[in-house]
Order: sequence, then structure tokens, then C-alpha cells
Amino acid sequence: MKLTFKNRINKKSYIFSFIDSHLIHYPTPINLTYAWSFGSLAGICLVIQILSGILLATHYIPDIRYAFNSIQFIMRDAPNGWLIRYIHANGASMFFIVVYSHICRGLYYGSYIKPRHWIWCSGVVLLLLMMGTAFTGYVLPWGQMSFWGATVITSMVTVIPIAGQYIAEWLWGGYVIREPTIRRFFVVHYLLPFIIAGVTIIHLALLHKEGSNNPLGSDFNGDILPFYPYFAIKDIFAFACFSLFFGFFVFYYPNYLNHPDNLIRADSLKTPAHIVPEWYFLPFYTILRVIPHKTGGILAMFGSIVILLTIPFTNKSKIRNTTFRPIFKLFFWLLVIDFLVLIWVGQQDMGIQIYQKIGVVATFYYFSFFICLPIIGYVETFFLKTLMKK
Ligand code: HEM
Repeated sequence: MKLTFKNRINKKSYIFSFIDSHLIHYPTPINLTYAWSFGSLAGICLVIQILSGILLATHYIPDIRYAFNSIQFIMRDAPNGWLIRYIHANGASMFFIVVYSHICRGLYYGSYIKPRHWIWCSGVVLLLLMMGTAFTGYVLPWGQMSFWGATVITSMVTVIPIAGQYIAEWLWGGYVIREPTIRRFFVVHYLLPFIIAGVTIIHLALLHKEGSNNPLGSDFNGDILPFYPYFAIKDIFAFACFSLFFGFFVFYYPNYLNHPDNLIRADSLKTPAHIVPEWYFLPFYTILRVIPHKTGGILAMFGSIVILLTIPFTNKSKIRNTTFRPIFKLFFWLLVIDFLVLIWVGQQDMGIQIYQKIGVVATFYYFSFFICLPIIGYVETFFLKTLMKK
């Protein structure tokens, strides 16, 4: 077949119609608020992390002898290296702020409820992949926290009966964290963002199959607008505001979210006074530490993330928007406060009893929320039916 201009256009028309139906004419509920911009912001964060990460990789050396120095070189000598590094390091925190807000939005507006349950589940997979990426990335500067954080976390696999020690050695590439460990962490850290990008496409395909939820939580087919220009403009404005917030950290407090001990080269003979992970891991770290049993703590820590997968299936309420669910609303806001308390306790010295106690209460509430979810739904539905009969 002769490749005429018309044929070429026809071939390209698949791509055009794909872009058109998913980005331009995607039918969007008219009443979406800025809470719906966190999804696009998360996508932008991913792009920023991938681009800045590739630039950093042009100077970074994944070798325990040179890793720390290569970071110093990036910060002092590489052209604009300091800027790229601060964007990447603070970008990770921004990504988590955006994604935690995105999850909160989903929880508040019942976006996890059928038919969007698989969108929610693919989101939890994204969260786990993000955590893996952040963890492997934090090891690369080869500071004290990098080394000791990696030691604590990778040693957790030793609780697996029989195979545990073998798995740990396989992860490390030796008997301790050494040369092969940092190289394989670098490979995984480089690879995971592209897997996240792939899963994000699945996440969006699932979203576009079902259509977006809306602040009322109603299943309405009318009152929709094309995504472009109405919501594209809204997302661009959200991005402008987000850039100011991001820029404030990059230019004024670039090390505020970093631990000062990570500015010291890793030393396997000097354990830091407190081993603390990045702030976004603190809630899960608290759960790990308040449980006195080692295996129990590790299971509870992983369980606290995986439990998010259960809520689309355990929820018993048909009402999506929390504004119309008075009992759930109380539980929801307590969960938000509880999550902040878990972050705060995570940085404290657990040797002090009061922090230990607060941590236990906060952990207890965290799991209670998910266990009580079906009961809250039943109770609310029961009251609603009784009121309607009257
Ligand atoms: C790399 C991380 C993520 C990216 C890039 C991402 C991206 C997006 C985008 C662009 C949207 C559409 C806009 C919006 O509704 O906000 C969306 C919707 C959604 N996301 Fe995510 N997301 C991520 C992580 C998550 C996580 C961790 C969860 C939950 C555990 C989640 C759950 C959802 C749900 C339920 C919707 C549908 C929202 C609705 O229609 O109300 N996402 N996501």
C-alpha cells in the first residue's frame, strides 16, 4: 500500500485518538475539586524524579569507596549538581506528601468502593513500589543513615524460618552489606521508577475504564466536561502552587527533611545514636518498634501497608462521600491524626516509656480502623434504613 499522506494520518490516528480520548476529551465530572489534582501531581513527581535521577546517575559512582565522594563532587563541582541533587532528594519527600494526600482523598471520597476497587489496589502496588525505590535510593549516598538503615531493614528477612539467612546473604551479595550490595541497590533504584511508570499506565487505564469519582460520590452520567481545557488548567494551577512549596524546600531548607547523620560517611564500626528512616517511613517504623516481638513487629509493619488492599472488600457502606457518613467521618479524621502521631513518635527515643505507650495506642488505633470499617458501614446503613422507614 502506498504510504500517502492520508494513510499516514490513518496510522497515526490511533495514537491521536488515544491521546484525544484520554487526555483531551476524557469525560470529567464537572464538580471535581483540587483534591483531584493530586493524581496528576503524583505523575509529575514521577517524571521529575526520573529526569533528575538520570542526570545524577551521570556522575554518581555505585562503589562503596567512591559513592560518598561522588555525591560530594555532584554537590560542589558538577555544574548545577547541587540543584539537581536537592530536587531529587526533596522530590522524594514531595512525592510521598502528594501520594499520601492522594490516598486521603480516595479514602475520604470513597474512591476505593466498587467499581473503582482495582484502581485502589493498583494504587497500593504503586505505593509499595515507591517505598522500594525510596529505600534503595536512600542507601546510595553511603552516609551513616544509608548504611545503618539498610542494615536494619535488610536484616529483617532473617526472621524467615530456615531460608532467612540465605536470603539476606543473597540480597547483600556477601555476608555483610558491602560492595555488591550498593551496586545492586543502584540497579534496582534505577529500574523501579520505570516499573512505577508502567503500573501508573495500568492505574490510569483502570480509572478511565470506570470514570472518575466525584465529590458527591454519585454515579451520574450527565454534567461532564472534557478534561482539556477545563481540568488541564486546574491541574496546571495546582502544579504552580506545588512548585512554590517544592521550591521553598529546595532553595531555603534543602536539608530540613534529611537526617544530619547522612552527611557523615558510612562507618560499619560506629552505630549512630538513633537509627531513623526518612519521615515518610516513620509511621511504619513506629509500628515495627512498639511491638516487642521481632517477627510480630515485622509482620505488623508490612501488614500496616498491605491492609490497605482489604478496604474495598470489607467496606459495607454504599455511600462514598464521608461528609454524609457521620460515624465514619470521626474515624477517618482520627486516622489522619493517628498517622501524624505515628510519624512524630517514630523520631523519638523508644527507651522513654511515654513514647512507647503513645506508639502502642497509635498502632492499636491504626489497625482498629481497618478492622472496624465493616462494622461502621453496617451501623450507618442500619440507622439510615431506620430513618428512611420513619
Ligand atoms: C505513583 C503513584 C501514583 C500516581 C502517579 C497516581 C496517579 C493517579 C492519577 C493521575 C489519577 C487521576 C486523577 C485523580 O483522580 O487524582 C489517579 C486516580 C486514583 N488513584 Fe492514583 N496514583 C498513584 C498512587 C495511588 C495510590 C497509592 C492509591 C491508593 C492506595 C491510588 C488510588 C487512586 C484512586 C482510587 C483513583 C481514582 C480517584 C477517583 O476517581 O476518585 N493512587 N491516580
